[in-house]
Amino acid sequence: MKVTVVGAGAVGATCADNIARKELAQELVLLDIKEGFAEGKAQDMMQTAALLGFDTRISGSTNDYSKTANSDVVVITSGLPRKPGMTREELIGTNAGIVKGVCENILKFSPNAIIIVISNPMDTMTYLALQSTGLAKNKIIGMGGTLDSARFKYQLSTTLNCSPSDLNALVVGGHGDTTMIPLIKHATWNSIPVTKFLDAAQQEKIINDTMVGGATLTKLLGTSAWYAPGAAGAALVESIVRDEKKLFTCCVSLNGEYGQKDICLGVPVVIGKNGWEKIVEMDLSSEEQAAFNKSADAVRNMNDVLKTL
Ligand code: LAC
Repeated sequence: MKVTVVGAGAVGATCADNIARKELAQELVLLDIKEGFAEGKAQDMMQTAALLGFDTRISGSTNDYSKTANSDVVVITSGLPRKPGMTREELIGTNAGIVKGVCENILKFSPNAIIIVISNPMDTMTYLALQSTGLAKNKIIGMGGTLDSARFKYQLSTTLNCSPSDLNALVVGGHGDTTMIPLIKHATWNSIPVTKFLDAAQQEKIINDTMVGGATLTKLLGTSAWYAPGAAGAALVESIVRDEKKLFTCCVSLNGEYGQKDICLGVPVVIGKNGWEKIVEMDLSSEEQAAFNKSADAVRNMNDVLKTL
């Protein structure tokens, strides 16, 4: 397996680090536009191989896409991260051009790759990647819901004082502070509904804290978070390269599922060797469906901005 991570910033490097530690690829290429930056990070990571005992060969490239040739999976993290007080949506002007260019370059050398999009605004960048590559829709996966669901489990675990990995919880809809929908009524602690243990105020706080999870970290760190976004990207790579068929919330192209069309939005999907292999339809309450439709409207408005750029 060969995996490329485009963008050697904090998210891209963390994603690559996770991929290497788990030996998800024999060959891992880190690419960045900043001269020498990806080479430096790749070398630094390779110097952990003897200590950590992994056998993935990591190399860096300054914008030379020929080095990425024949990648099975490509993770796109390029673009500006948000600064404190910024929404993900404010990044569209700069990041749309960057992501479009990256997609074109990737396609030249890896026409069969599965693409995972992390760049923000993630739902619109996923839609853009689908439009600009013309790849089969199953090969374009936006990472947002995987991260948001992990953050939701974190918030639930701190209130319930339980292990995050004992929780089943999904965030659907957009990857925006106001567009994501943590489905608390469906969340369970090893099959026991979490709502059994949480009063209304606790539930509301968990939902709100999940929705502003990224913004909270941006405020604390002065830039966008990287450990969980990088790990979420690597978890998707793992399910693809090991054909695990795990269920994650990912941003994928909808064609009538959940009542939406001509949009990429976060829904539960099965991730395996073919990319997203199946959309899993769950029964949403009328309230949840209304929130999903509202989220779709907001993402569609953002997608419309692409036409003006
Ligand atoms: C975040 C960015 C990666 O939520 O969207 O941290």
